[in-house]
Order: sequence, then structure tokens, then C-alpha cells
Amino acid sequence: MRPKLIVGNWKMNGTLKETRKLLFQLSVEWTPKCHDIEVAVCPPFTMLLIAKHALDETSIKLGAQNCYCEEKGAFTGEIAPAMLAELGCTYVILGHSERRTIFGETDNLVSKKLRSALDAKLTPIICIGESESERTGNETEAVLLRQISESLATINANDAAKVVIAYEPIWAIGTGKTATPDEAQSAHAFIRADLQKKYGSIASDIRILYGGSVKPDNARALLAEPDIDGGLIGGASLDASAFIAIVEAAT
Ligand code: 13P
Repeated sequence: MRPKLIVGNWKMNGTLKETRKLLFQLSVEWTPKCHDIEVAVCPPFTMLLIAKHALDETSIKLGAQNCYCEEKGAFTGEIAPAMLAELGCTYVILGHSERRTIFGETDNLVSKKLRSALDAKLTPIICIGESESERTGNETEAVLLRQISESLATINANDAAKVVIAYEPIWAIGTGKTATPDEAQSAHAFIRADLQKKYGSIASDIRILYGGSVKPDNARALLAEPDIDGGLIGGASLDASAFIAIVEAAT
């Protein structure tokens, strides 16, 4: 049994005023129905503390969008996993395609961050997914296999059970193009089959989220697929009503 998980990735958005408004709306629109689903939001680092206080009355958990792989020291500009845990974060997104393509993060670095996040008792959400040209060149499966094997290289089956995977086809991120429920389901089933080969029966407990232009009008069909265990939501998570509608679609 895999409880559904909906995560809002706010990316680099929101002034203090806008963030306070969004947090207020989320807490006001939060309905008892939403309690059946695990929900988290991942604001920018600078907003984590106010988010923690604002969401106290809801069951919305907190996550960060990234962290570094070292515990402390001379790493200017970086944030350690333990710092996030201390702020009340439950989740941390790692290896998002924007980090991989814009900031040059490799599978190897993602695997080190994963190890450190687990050591700090955070639940890592590891993002994988192919680009448009990889998909049209029939390389989707090879890309997914490489990303799973290298990004998860530092963990064993015991740890794998604590990890969340997010399948985010790059061509669907922020483009309004969504994978069809069939396309997404087939990628998720492929990912789960590979996890099964690596980690055995634990694979049926690992949650695999879909991300890429999830909106209130397509969420229900995607989330009804057997291997889609939730969503990683970008743009739509910046609108409280849209985000809550997606959470409700998962119930
Ligand atoms: P969009 O929902 O805006 O396509 O973003 C998806 C994403 O990147 C979530 O991490």
C-alpha cells in the first residue's frame, strides 16, 4: 500500500508578501478531505521558516528544493541537509532537471546528496526523466536506467524504501504538454520494474510521482494510474485553489 503524495515545487518564485498570501490561502482552503493524502510544499530556502509557522494548523509538510552533500564547512552558498531537518523539513527534492541542466548537476553528485539527505533523516525526492530529443530518439528507457542506477548508487534496499522517485519528462515541464496517462503509466511501470530488479519486493513500496504540467483538469486521470503514486507540481502549486484541487483529485 503506497499512500499518495502530492508535492508543490514552488521553484524560485514569490516575494515575502506573495508567499504570505499563498500560505494563508493554503491554510484557509485546506479541507478535511485533504487529510487522506500526504501533501508537502517546497518553498525557496528563505521562505521555509515562515511556511513552517503558517502551515502549522494543516497537515501540509515542508520540503526543500535542494541541499548539498556535506554536513558543514567551507561551501559558500550551500545548505546542509541537517539545516533543513532543523527547520522542520520532511522532504528534499534532489536532481531536478533544472539543477541538472542549468547547474550541471551529475548523477554522481545527486547520489552523494541522496546519501547525506538520508543520513539527516530527510525523505529525498529523486527526479529523473528524459528530454524531448531523448524521447524522439527512443532513448527514454536507457536514460531512466542510467539515472536510476547512478543517482541511487549510494543506497541499499533498506534505504531505497525511504526514497521517493519523481518521473519528470523534461519536455512536459512548464510547457503545458503533459504525458498522457498511458505514457506516464508505462514509464512508471518501467521504473518500478527496474527498482524491483535492484531492490526486490521493496520496489512495490517505493512511491513514484509524476511531474510535468500537472493541472486540476488532468490530475485525476494521471493519478488514477496504478503506478502513479502522486504528483510533483510546479506552476499549479503557486495557486492555492489549483493545488488544493489537485490534492482533492488524488483522494
Ligand atoms: P510544472 O508543473 O510547472 O510543469 O513543473 C513541474 C516540475 O518541474 C515540478 O518539479
